[in-house]
Amino acid sequence: MESAMDYHTAKALLEWQVEFGVDEAICDAPVNRFEVKPEPKKPVLPVASETATVLTPIRANPPGEVDGAALAREAAAGAGDIEALKAALGAFEACELKRGARNLVFADGTFGARVMIVGEAPGREEDQIGTPFVGEAGTLLDKMLSAIDLNRAENVYITNVLPWRPPQNREPTPAELGMMLPFLERHVALAKPEILVLMGNIACQAVLGKRGITRMRGEWGDAMGVKVLPMFHPAYLLRSPEKKRDAWADLLALKARLKSE
Ligand code: URA
Repeated sequence: MESAMDYHTAKALLEWQVEFGVDEAICDAPVNRFEVKPEPKKPVLPVASETATVLTPIRANPPGEVDGAALAREAAAGAGDIEALKAALGAFEACELKRGARNLVFADGTFGARVMIVGEAPGREEDQIGTPFVGEAGTLLDKMLSAIDLNRAENVYITNVLPWRPPQNREPTPAELGMMLPFLERHVALAKPEILVLMGNIACQAVLGKRGITRMRGEWGDAMGVKVLPMFHPAYLLRSPEKKRDAWADLLALKARLKSE
C-alpha cells in the first residue's frame, strides 16, 4: 500500500514547484511523462530582439512534419463569416498551445466596430473565462478606452494574436505567431475595422513584422489593409506607470483620427 507523504516533504515539494514558476494545477490526476510518446522535434527558429527590428521570416517545416501555417491558411481562408472562423479555430489542432489551454479566447466587444484592438495572448483569467482582456490589464484597457469614449459594448472590438494561453504566460515563439497569423488576417478581413490598435511588441511583431514598441508607439502605419496604431500594452503600463503619459498621447491621436474621418 502507498504511504501518504508527510506534511513537511509535501510542503517542500510544493514550494520547489512554486519557485520554478508553477502557478496552477492543470490536471486532476498526475501524468506519467515516461509513458507519453515524445513529440516530433520542432524546427528551431530565431528569436527576435529589440535591437534587430525586422524579423526573419518563418522557415518551412522539414519534410514529414505538419506544416501548421499551411493548415491555418487553408482553414482561415475557408471561413466565410465570423462564426465559421471561430469554429475553424476551435477545430484547429496544429498549435501545441491549444493542448495546455482551458479555453479558446476568440474575441470580445462589438464585431464590425471602427476600432479593433489586437493584444498578445490570453493570460490566466482570460484562459479561465474564454474572453480577452478580463484581468488586471483588461481593466486598465477598459479605463483607457473609456477615457476617449470607447467601450466594448458599443464601439470597440478586441482580439489577440494568439487565441490560447502560452504556458506560464511565456512569450509566444515566432513559429506560433507565424502559424496563427492567417487566422488574425482573416479575422481583420471579416471585422473590417478602420483602425487596428496594436498593443505591445508581440502584436507589432505579428502584424508589422517588427518590434521596438518604444520607438514605434504613436506612429501610424498601414497593414492588413487598414490604418494601424502601435501602443504600449496595458500590462506594460501597469509595470511602468510613468509611460501612461505616452499612452494618453496615443489615445488622443486615436480619438482625433476617429473624429476626422
Ligand atoms: N494580455 C493580452 O495581450 N491579451 C489578453 O487577452 C490579456 C492580457
